Amino acid sequence: MGIIALGYLGIRSDRMSDWHDFASGLLAMQAMDVTKAARTFRMDDRRQRLFVVDEAGPVLAAMGWEVAEKSDLDHFGARLEAAGAMVRRGTRALADQRFVEDLIIFEDPDGNRVELFFNPMRASDPFVPGRPISGFRTGALGMGHAVLHAVRIDALLPFYRDVLGFHVSDYGLTPYPLYFFHVNERHHSFAMVGSGQIGFHHFMVEFRNLDDVGQGYDLAQLQEGRVAYTLGRHTNDYMTSFYAHSPSGFFVENGWGGRLIDPATWEPHETFAGPSFWGHERLYLPEEPRARLRQMRLDAAAHGIRAPAVADCPWLYGQLAG
Ligand SMILES: [Fe+2]
Repeated sequence: MGIIALGYLGIRSDRMSDWHDFASGLLAMQAMDVTKAARTFRMDDRRQRLFVVDEAGPVLAAMGWEVAEKSDLDHFGARLEAAGAMVRRGTRALADQRFVEDLIIFEDPDGNRVELFFNPMRASDPFVPGRPISGFRTGALGMGHAVLHAVRIDALLPFYRDVLGFHVSDYGLTPYPLYFFHVNERHHSFAMVGSGQIGFHHFMVEFRNLDDVGQGYDLAQLQEGRVAYTLGRHTNDYMTSFYAHSPSGFFVENGWGGRLIDPATWEPHETFAGPSFWGHERLYLPEEPRARLRQMRLDAAAHGIRAPAVADCPWLYGQLAG
């Protein structure tokens, strides 16, 4: 029952060939349909995980969240309408375009288009990455995570938490509100930053192998201005990652080793350690805010704040499981 994973993301852009090169060359996704108006990309056995459309409108074209049961669509449709949202049933043509059996469409309080879908279509042929990688960590964890800028965070929090049933993982309140949510074992599949802006802050894809991230980092550094955050490690989800500037201005986090949580026992809590244990130097920021964030991680390091050495180590768990 309920929402179980981030299924797909859609972006509006007129920089189609830049997105093609970025998504397949750096992110290692598999480019599928190439038309003048749309590009679609695979990350696994799903027929589609990312699409880019050349049409007028906000950069965020759609966030697609997967539900467990077909009846969840009616359940959430009723809840959303009771909460004042306008809900539409996806047409057959739209469901075909999204490669899903059925979906509903609505907007969140900031006007972001959200789609809930049931039963995504699988491809019959194997996933072929755009550069040699060990694949993406998806499956029951979903496509990765999406982090949105937020204006009406006081309305967005109850919308995602109470109406859609997302669970708060943790949150920080300074220098601006930042809420992280889980819908499965991935520490967060969704987050929002109360920055007063709209649209994507970033989305994250998680690679199976740290070398996939490192080799992408080498490629990104060869492109002038491509790296937005240097390699670093986050304090809440333990993700080792770098952030790249996408062709649409927002970032894409290239991650490895994210933390799994037990949703049954997890307690939401406030965090104070700052975003990163080390690294993640924000090359795009002016010196002042950059220095403030740098000081936060130097403080974290000076206090010995770090991820547990063995617990939550996906490499070790993988070895043990193997
Ligand atoms: Fe992230």
